[in-house]
Parts: sequence; structure tokens; C-alpha cells
Amino acid sequence: MSKVTTSTLLKFKQEGKKFTALTAYDASFAAAFDSEGIDVLLVGDSLGMVLQGHSDTLPVTVEDIAYHTRCVHRGIERALLIADMPFMSYATPEQAMTNATVLMQAGANMVKLEGGEWLLETVKKLTERGVPVCAHIGLTPQSVHVFGGFKVQGRDAENAQRILNEAKALEAAGAQLLVIECIPASLAKAISDALTIPVIGIGAGKDTDGQILVMHDVLGISSGYIPRFSKNYLKQTGEIRAAVRAYVDEVASGTFPGAEHTFN
Ligand code: KIV
Ligand code: NA
Repeated sequence: MSKVTTSTLLKFKQEGKKFTALTAYDASFAAAFDSEGIDVLLVGDSLGMVLQGHSDTLPVTVEDIAYHTRCVHRGIERALLIADMPFMSYATPEQAMTNATVLMQAGANMVKLEGGEWLLETVKKLTERGVPVCAHIGLTPQSVHVFGGFKVQGRDAENAQRILNEAKALEAAGAQLLVIECIPASLAKAISDALTIPVIGIGAGKDTDGQILVMHDVLGISSGYIPRFSKNYLKQTGEIRAAVRAYVDEVASGTFPGAEHTFN
């Protein structure tokens, strides 16, 4: 069982093999997800919502992510481990390098940053210095107050074109993975087709190279509202490992996401 790296994911894309990502925040869940075949584990700043109970991700700190990254790192053998850089921890390239160091030293294999055009210099600097970058565009939750709510992005032609251009520019700057969140399926397909690097979707339809979900949604324990693009796999399986396996299988076979999870 060899370790998943950025080269593994690139090979999956080239072979047309859909891969699966899931958030994790502790060693026990991470170990279970890893052994059930999840390829990529993300210590997401969603932990601000699902672990800490905040209504958005803005209160999360670098130390919060570092702590949970250390926990997850101890639980996994195979999956690629990505750590989110929290709100304002990469406002300048210098801050990004300082804070990415903390997360890589906590056990992350890659860091994820939200942003488009303004992030290009930071992506280039991090990559040049040995920090692999996953960029995150579309609905970027750290900008929820700028967007005026958690809203689908790229619905009109002009914004769709801007998002596609951002994706290409981030790849050119050195990003080795891209997350696209809550955008129309047609735009997600255009981005996945246009890029060489693997593209992971959430609320982005079935044509991305991989899918990611928040573990609390997959296991049906999110408090309050469950996003339309998510799926409670515990409901149909009744057991945590079986739920994870069903998610992996449905992504691999192209059954998830279905039309009901997709924005057009
Ligand atoms: O924080 C998170 O969990 C994420 C994923 C939903 C992509 O960024
Ligand atoms: Na996040």
C-alpha cells in the first residue's frame, strides 16, 4: 500500500480514475477513512463550524489546524494529507510561508489556500520553497461576508470565465491540485478539462477528477443544515466504515454526485 502523493493523483487523472477525498480532524476517524480507501484527507477549516460550533470558518487559527493536523497525521498510512491555511494566515506571501511551515511541520503533505488572481505570487513562492499547494476557488468560505452568504459562484458568463481563467493561472503559478466549490457542473467540467492538474469538486457536479465532502455531512451528524450537494451515507449503510466505503464506491463508479447534488 504505497503512499498517495501528488504524482499518484496526477496518474489517476490521466487514467480517468475518479478519486475520493474527505475531511478528518482526529486520528481515529482518519485511520478508518484511510483504511477504507479515501485517497486524500483534509484537515479543513470547516472544523471551525463542525468541531467548534461557529457559524463560519473565520475564527479558526493556524494553531487549531496544526493541532488537528498532528492528530490526523498519526492516524494515516496511505492518504495524502492536506491542511487548510485559515483566514488571514496567508494575507501576504511572507505570512503564508511562515504559517505553511507550521502546518508542514505538523505533518501536512500539502496546504490549501482560498483565492484566485491575488494568490498567484504566494502559490509560486510556496511551491518554489518546497510546499505543495492546493488552490481553492469558486465559493471560498473565508470570503462569505464579501459574497453576502454561502452562494453558488460562476453562474453568469462573465464570472464563469473569470473562474476558468483563475484556475489556469493558479496551475501556471505552480498549484498541483485545485478544489472548486459550489459552481455549475458545466463550468466545473470546463475547468477539469482545461487543466493538467487534478481538480476536486464539492458541489461542482460529477465531471471533476475527484470529489470531497465534509465527514460530518457523510455521517449525518452535521448540526442544523446539510448542504444540498452533500450526501448522508450513514443513513443507507448504518455503519461508519460501510458509509465511507459506499462514498468511495459511488465516486469511483460515477454515481455520486447525482443530479440532485448538482448546480446547473
Ligand atoms: O474546510 C473544508 O472542509 C473544505 C472542504 C469542504 C473543501 O475546505
Ligand atoms: Na476549508
